[in-house]
Amino acid sequence: MNIAVVGTGYVGLVSGACFAEMGVNVTCVDINKDKIEGLKKGVIPIYEPGLKPIVLRNYDAQRLHFTTDLPSVLNDMDIVFIAVGTPSDEDGNADLTYVFNVATTIADHLNSHVLIVTKSTVPVGTSHKVKELIRQRLDERGLQELDFDIASNPEFLKEGAAVDDFMSPDRVVVGVETERAKELMTRLYRPFLLNNFRVIFMDILSSEMTKYASNAMLATRISFMNDVANLCELVGADVNMVRRGMGSDSRIGKSFLYPGCGYGGSCFPKDIRAIIKVAEDVGYEMSVLKAVESVNNQQKGILFHKFNRFFKGDIKGKTVAVWGLSFKPETDDMRDAPSLTLINSLLESGVNVRAYDPAAMQEAKIYLNDRIYYAADIYDAANNADALIVPTEWKEFRLPNWEILKKIMNNFLVVDGRNIYNKEELASYGFEYSGIGQR
Ligand SMILES: NC(=O)c1ccc[n+]([C@@H]2O[C@H](COP(=O)([O-])OP(=O)(O)OC[C@H]3O[C@@H](n4cnc5c(N)ncnc54)[C@H](O)[C@@H]3O)[C@@H](O)[C@H]2O)c1
Repeated sequence: MNIAVVGTGYVGLVSGACFAEMGVNVTCVDINKDKIEGLKKGVIPIYEPGLKPIVLRNYDAQRLHFTTDLPSVLNDMDIVFIAVGTPSDEDGNADLTYVFNVATTIADHLNSHVLIVTKSTVPVGTSHKVKELIRQRLDERGLQELDFDIASNPEFLKEGAAVDDFMSPDRVVVGVETERAKELMTRLYRPFLLNNFRVIFMDILSSEMTKYASNAMLATRISFMNDVANLCELVGADVNMVRRGMGSDSRIGKSFLYPGCGYGGSCFPKDIRAIIKVAEDVGYEMSVLKAVESVNNQQKGILFHKFNRFFKGDIKGKTVAVWGLSFKPETDDMRDAPSLTLINSLLESGVNVRAYDPAAMQEAKIYLNDRIYYAADIYDAANNADALIVPTEWKEFRLPNWEILKKIMNNFLVVDGRNIYNKEELASYGFEYSGIGQR
């Protein structure tokens, strides 16, 4: 089987490499020439555990190819995946420019049957718009007889565990409208689900909606727990205990009950905004999701608020060590990261920032340029700092040497945005501790 994956980002590169790993002949396409040239030389443009060996192995085996030229490969393909970005536009709608650009290129060059699959997260109805656009252009080109299929196959991988998620998915959701599309997608995904075939076929609109509804549910759990955590602090309860007590109820479950400093990343914020807009367009108000978004915006300010409160607002000229910049561990993705909200507030208040992240330092420079000090490691970041603030829970932050930190820091406040430290233990070293939702 020959497939093309258009858009070689977090989703497209992982999908393409993992399909190739199963023996499929895959061409990854991107308009970014540097990215494609880099990939041909073995340079992986993103930090994603386990991805590099799969890319290198399959590229060497000539099952994985890279190109910027979609038209030159299009007509050899059985399936073309669209996996380009769908960021928010100024009003919060999903910006579908990249998706429609790909659709236009396909429409302008298609000469043989193909299945076109939308993998990007798109508002309900987008795949049908892609189909209309291509049909209209083919008709204009005099190709009324040329038939093609469409499908929707939203992606559920998590950055930081993307390869594992793709290789062993909980389920694969596929929206189809023809038997031919269903058969092709069944063949493609069978190797991933040999033991227990969990492809859930449905209509295309429901498939598109499933992706938004899933992200909306996960974001809702996060904002709900952040609300609970904030109340715990006010009434003297400990959210760590509450979480365990709640999560052991099988109707609730343990996942996604961790309070923190707000959700970020390339998906939840934009997808919540987009589903609210989709609803508005059809005259419906997503009241729960509006609250989810509002709680999250407030929660992203909590680390700054705790730091500012500790020093009673006298923070100008202070120095803060920030450990963790990416929106979550095991990725270099900085899109909508809570660390950015924190750092911007600190800088606006005249605070000096010394930051360290195991993977996202290069990416962070795009957002923060020379406004902060980029530290070589956690201790370099903490040197002379008045506070240590942790927005992202990388493993290497879990057991630092508190004795060294006590010696090199100037003041001894730790603001723990992910509840990875123990208040009593830190007190024994002479640190003041402020976590999320704890007494
Ligand atoms: N990142 C995630 O964790 C994740 C998870 C599930 C779903 N998604 C969804 O998948 C989609 C892609 O997300 P991503 O994070 O991989 O995006 P990304 O920004 O990392 O990558 C998108 C790529 O598409 C390329 N591109 C843009 N226009 C193109 C064109 N006309 N032809 C070829 N390439 C083009 C860009 O150069 C870029 O390399 C989004 O809709 C996103 O919501 C993302």
